[in-house]
Amino acid sequence: MTTRALYTGSFDPMTNGHLDIITRSSKMFDELVVGVIVNPNKNPLFTREERVEMIQEVTSDLENVRVDSFEGLLADYVNRNHFDAVVRGLRATSDFEYEIQMAQMNACLFDKGIESVFLMTSPRYSFISSSMIKEVVSLNGCVDGLVPEHIMDRIKAKFSRR
Ligand code: COA
Repeated sequence: MTTRALYTGSFDPMTNGHLDIITRSSKMFDELVVGVIVNPNKNPLFTREERVEMIQEVTSDLENVRVDSFEGLLADYVNRNHFDAVVRGLRATSDFEYEIQMAQMNACLFDKGIESVFLMTSPRYSFISSSMIKEVVSLNGCVDGLVPEHIMDRIKAKFSRR
């Protein structure tokens, strides 16, 4: 049986923390789809197309990973595409409360047999978020090792145009 999982988020932009979860979960499933969500509650720095393109570039060596984007209810996208699992990363205990609520809500909405699967984020990346990376870069701070190199160039380019 082929297993398919979704790893979803805003990825505005993708960080090495996200890449860590993608790399590790790609080994657990036959196919991993990275789903860029268009979240109406967020005002992204990068367009949907830019976010998809950046993830494609960074994951091009992972053969069973592909990138897609969607909007609306996560469960609708998951059921429609017949995923077996949705992967989420846990950075700290503070993520847990939100994640358990979301997983339990999704359990009511997912088709039978679809599971939420949680991976602990590598401690190296447990303190970062996309917003924090953007803030530090916008103030000329150093985020070496926390973001793939060419994504860092793209963040810098965005802020230099402002
Ligand atoms: N490494 C580094 N950073 C990480 C990380 C990791 N492993 N995991 C998460 N983060 C960061 C993200 O970059 C993000 O940073 P930001 O808030 O500064 O942008 C932050 O942690 C939160 O990430 P996440 O919880 O994945 O939020 P999101 O907006 O990226 O995605 C959805 C949230 C998509 C999962 C959720 O909003 C959703 O499902 N929306 C669809 C609507 C829906 O179905 N709602 C009902 C849900 S029950």
